[in-house]
Amino acid sequence: MGYHKVPCSVLFLFLFISVCFSYQCLADGVEANQTGQLLIDASEGSGHPIPDTLFGIFFEEINHAGAGGLWAELVSNRGFEAGGSNIPSNIYPWSIIGDESSLIVSTDRSSCFERNKVALRMEVLCDSEGTHICPSGGVGIYNPGFWGMHSTSFLIQNIEQGKSYKVVFYVRSTAAVNISVSFSGSNGLQTLASANIIASASDVSNWTKMEVLLEAKATNQNSRLQLTTTKEGVIWFDQVSAMPLDTYKGQGFRNDLIEMLADIKPRFIRFPGGCFVEGEWLRNAFRWKESIGPWEERPGHFGDVWMYWTDDGLGYFEFLQLAEDLDALPIWVFNNGISHNDQVDTSTILPFVQEALDGIEFARGDPNSEWGAVRAAMGHPEPFDLRYVAIGNEDCGKKNYRGNYLKFYDAIRRAYPDIKMISNCDGSSHQLDHPADFYDFHVYTSASNLFSMSHQFDRTSRTGPKAFVSEYAVTGKDAGTGSLLAALAEAGFLIGLEKNSDVVQMASYAPLFVNSNDRRWNPDAIVFDSYQVYGTPSYWVQHFFIESSGATLLNATLQTNSSMSLVASAITWQTSKDDQTYIRIKVVNFGSNSVNLKISVSGLDPNSVKLSGTKMTVLTSTNLMDENSFKEPTKVVPTESLLKNADKEMTVQLSPHSFTSIDLLKESVSLRITEADSTSVSSI
Ligand code: AHR
Repeated sequence: MGYHKVPCSVLFLFLFISVCFSYQCLADGVEANQTGQLLIDASEGSGHPIPDTLFGIFFEEINHAGAGGLWAELVSNRGFEAGGSNIPSNIYPWSIIGDESSLIVSTDRSSCFERNKVALRMEVLCDSEGTHICPSGGVGIYNPGFWGMHSTSFLIQNIEQGKSYKVVFYVRSTAAVNISVSFSGSNGLQTLASANIIASASDVSNWTKMEVLLEAKATNQNSRLQLTTTKEGVIWFDQVSAMPLDTYKGQGFRNDLIEMLADIKPRFIRFPGGCFVEGEWLRNAFRWKESIGPWEERPGHFGDVWMYWTDDGLGYFEFLQLAEDLDALPIWVFNNGISHNDQVDTSTILPFVQEALDGIEFARGDPNSEWGAVRAAMGHPEPFDLRYVAIGNEDCGKKNYRGNYLKFYDAIRRAYPDIKMISNCDGSSHQLDHPADFYDFHVYTSASNLFSMSHQFDRTSRTGPKAFVSEYAVTGKDAGTGSLLAALAEAGFLIGLEKNSDVVQMASYAPLFVNSNDRRWNPDAIVFDSYQVYGTPSYWVQHFFIESSGATLLNATLQTNSSMSLVASAITWQTSKDDQTYIRIKVVNFGSNSVNLKISVSGLDPNSVKLSGTKMTVLTSTNLMDENSFKEPTKVVPTESLLKNADKEMTVQLSPHSFTSIDLLKESVSLRITEADSTSVSSI
C-alpha cells in the first residue's frame, strides 16, 4: 500500500509549523516584519464629502446609564411609586431608621400629585420628652441612592466636600414638624451635611414643598440621604429629591460622565433606547408624555427589559436638552405599538401615531402650539433641532411592523415633510419594500466577523435610503468587559463605514454607559460608579474619528499581501480654529505581525504645498485581551508621539494588533518662506 514511514523529526517540524500557523506564533515571538503600501490621492476634488453626522452616540437607559448615572439625581424611587400602586407597597430602596416601637412606616394614596398618588406615611411614636424618648439621632427614613439588584455595593450616592446639594421634598402633617435633613455615611454615623426644617402645624396641614441647600463638610462615595425627627406625630413625605448644584451647564447631567461624551464630539445622539423603548410589554415601555413636565408630577416606570425602576427625571425634554448641550442632533426613537411580547393592531394604531406627532410638536412646535407650549413652560421656548425619528427598534420581523410603520410614516411625512424617518428593516443587501429615509443596521458579533465587515457596505446599492448603523459592537468572549481585541475589530469596521460614507450616514456604538453596580450588558463604552469613570478601548477608538464627520474622504488604495489584516483610510479637513488643512491616515493592523507601511501621498503641487507631520497616535497593548479598569483606567488608551520625517513619501512601522493614526499638516510653501523671513528679520 502507498504508506511511507515518516521520520519523527519531520513529524515534529510539521507539528511545529501547524501550531505556529494556528496561534500565529511566528508573529508574536519572531521578528517578522511585513510590508505594505498605501497610496493616497490628495489632489483637489479627490474623494467625497463625509456626512456631517457620521459619528455620534446612542444613549440607552440600560445598566443604570441614566437613572443613577448621567442624570445626577441622588435619590432613587423619589416618589415612592416603584413598589406599584397597590397599598401597602414596597418602598425599596428606602429603609427605616429606628424600630417598630418608635415608628411605623407605610404607604397610602394621599399624594397631591395626580399621576403618582403614592405617598409615604410615617407615624412617629417617640418624642424628645416624656416617657418614650426617641433615639438620639432621631427616627425616620433614608435613601441609599441607586443600586443593581445583583450588586455587591448597594450604595452609590457620592457626596463631595465643599459641594452644595439641593434637597427638595413635599411634606404634610397633623402637627408642627421638626425634620432633620442630612447626608451621612452608609452606616449613618458620619454626618456629611445637615439642616433642620421646622414648620408650624398650619404651615404643613396641606402638602408643602420644602427646599434646603446642604453643603458637604466631608467627602463620602457611599452616602445616604436621611429624613429624621425626634418629634411624635404623623408625617407624610412625597417626591424627595437631592441634586448636586454642580452639574453640566446647570442642566442636571453628571459632569464627569457628560465630559466623556463631549470629548468625542458626537454629531448626533440617538435616544432613549433600544429595547428600553419597546419594553417586554407595552405597558412598561418608555412613553414620552409620562416623562415630561415638572419632575414631581412624573409617574416614573419600571423598565421591564433591563429590569429596573426609573423616576424618569431624565425624560424626553432632558434628552433633547442633552443633545443641545452636546451640540449634537437628537434622534428620537419612539415606540411604534410593538413590544417584545405584545403588539397593537394596525387598525387601532392611530393613538400611537398621534402620540408620535405630539412628541415632534413638543420638540419643535411653536410655543403657541399645544405641545410647544408645554416645552416652553419647561423653560425652552425655542424649538429643539429635531430632524430625525426612528419608528421603533429592532421590530422589522414583527407581524404588525410594516402596517404600523406605514401609518406613522404617512402621518409624519404629511405633517413634517422635512423629518427624516428611520426604518427598522435592513436595506444593506436588498431594497426595502417600504419608503424610508434611512434604515437601521445593528451588529453584535465576534471580533473577526466585525473586522471582516469593514467591507459590509462595499456592494450596497448607492441609491435609495441611507444606512444608520445605530448599534455596533464586538460581544461575547472576544470582548470580555471591553478588550483591545474588540476595539481593534471595531476600528476596522468603522474605517469601512467611513469609506462607505456615501451610503452610511450615521454610526454609533452600543451600549454607551454601564454603572458597574448593575451590568446588564457587556461590553459598554464607558464604565462608572458613584464617583469614578473610565473609557473602554472601544470608547478610545471613537476618539480617532472625531474629525471625520464633515471631512473629505480621500481616495486611498492599500496594496498588501493577502495574508495581511490591514484596513486603512485617509481624510482631509480644515480646522475652524486656525484654518489649517490636515490629512489624517488611519490604519488598523489586526494581524500579529508588525508591518512596515510605505505611505505615498500624491496630487499635491510640490511648488506650493509641503506636508509636515504633527502627530502619530497609537492604540495597542501588551495583550490582546487587555482591558481598562477602575484600578488601571488608562492601561489601553491611545498614546501620541511627534511624527518626525513626515513627507509625501514615508514609511511607518505598525505594531502588531494596533490602531494607528497619522496627522499630516498641509503647509503652503510660500507661506512658510514668508514666515521664516519675517522671523529672521525680527531676530536680527
Ligand atoms: O444595546 C443593547 C440592546 O441591543 C439594545 O437595547 C437593542 O436595540 C439591541 O438588541
